[in-house]
Amino acid sequence: MSNLKISNVIPPPVDGDSKLDLVRIEDEPQPRHALVWDTTVERQVRQIIAERRARKRLEESGLSAPTSVLFSGPPGVGKTEGARQVASALGLPLVILDLATILSSLLGKSGSNLRQVFDYAKRTPCVLLLDEIDAIAKHRDDSGDVGELKRLVTVLLQEIDLWPATHLLIAATNHVQLLDSAVLRRFEQTIVFPRPDASQLTILGESLSSKAVTRVPASWTKLLADLLSDTSYSDYVRDLNRVRRSTVLGGQKEGVTAIKEIVIERNDALSREARKRVAVSLVADVKISQREASRITKIARETLKSALQGVSIDDGSAEVPAGSG
Ligand SMILES: Nc1ncnc2c1ncn2[C@@H]1O[C@H](COP(=O)(O)OP(=O)(O)OP(=O)(O)O)[C@@H](O)[C@H]1O
Ligand SMILES: [Mg+2]
Repeated sequence: MSNLKISNVIPPPVDGDSKLDLVRIEDEPQPRHALVWDTTVERQVRQIIAERRARKRLEESGLSAPTSVLFSGPPGVGKTEGARQVASALGLPLVILDLATILSSLLGKSGSNLRQVFDYAKRTPCVLLLDEIDAIAKHRDDSGDVGELKRLVTVLLQEIDLWPATHLLIAATNHVQLLDSAVLRRFEQTIVFPRPDASQLTILGESLSSKAVTRVPASWTKLLADLLSDTSYSDYVRDLNRVRRSTVLGGQKEGVTAIKEIVIERNDALSREARKRVAVSLVADVKISQREASRITKIARETLKSALQGVSIDDGSAEVPAGSG
């Protein structure tokens, strides 16, 4: 496979002045770990893969497979991972261009750098990911040179129009509302990536833990999912790994300390109902005292006590994590 790498066949484009790479190339893109999708996102992503695979058949019927798709959503919800998954499923390399990199080119060079990247991507079958496409829009407010930016948008529009049907272009943005309407209109489809809910995070936590040597109890991954619900997959992975690292190095005691820290960080963002659930879980699953659970969640002792009534408190012995891997 190595001699077939796109980067070996044609040298990747570099900035003429700084000689820095303009793109990142993943010859064999692979998502970092198992992904969990919202059902609508999953269906839409699958559809794109299926239609791209059936491109010829669609063309025979006078139809075309999507060639440009916009992934929209807040940070850490899987836009880049989704692009990786699509490229991987299609067996294509992923060429990633961060628009912010292009904008940092010397004055007058951003348009030609952008053109270079498109020329490069068009020469080999690949998925081109335009990351942070809203950087252009955001830049508009603080740019000293409006003309330069206008030229860049013009190049972008032209290149999207010239994009070949054999290739797939994916653009990602955190701020779809900032996008130039002419740019937005060029994309055949937009997929909106929502923030994950607690049940999606729980599934992710279970899947990440299933391969781990040192496991944290399932009740902990669930508690973290409740705490991180409505933030992002990346925040959840970060905090789960924080607890896992503490557990590997210091055993359950350190794991508990990490969980308490995360509760304190997240508590003010939670609804009262969620705080109550967290307090109950801290006592029932993490085995901290009612007094402490009440203090860090700001749920009154009496409220916690009555919420705990009827909650079975298992002794956790089946899942006590080992002190070391
Ligand atoms: N759907 C998902 N399932 C499981 N993990 C995910 C998912 N989405 C994101 N993650 C985790 O979050 C990390 C960041 O995801 P990704 O880079 O795709 O976010 P993004 O939406 O592109 O964010 P940004 O807007 O900051 O670029 C991933 O490496 C992965 O650990
Ligand atoms: Mg991204």
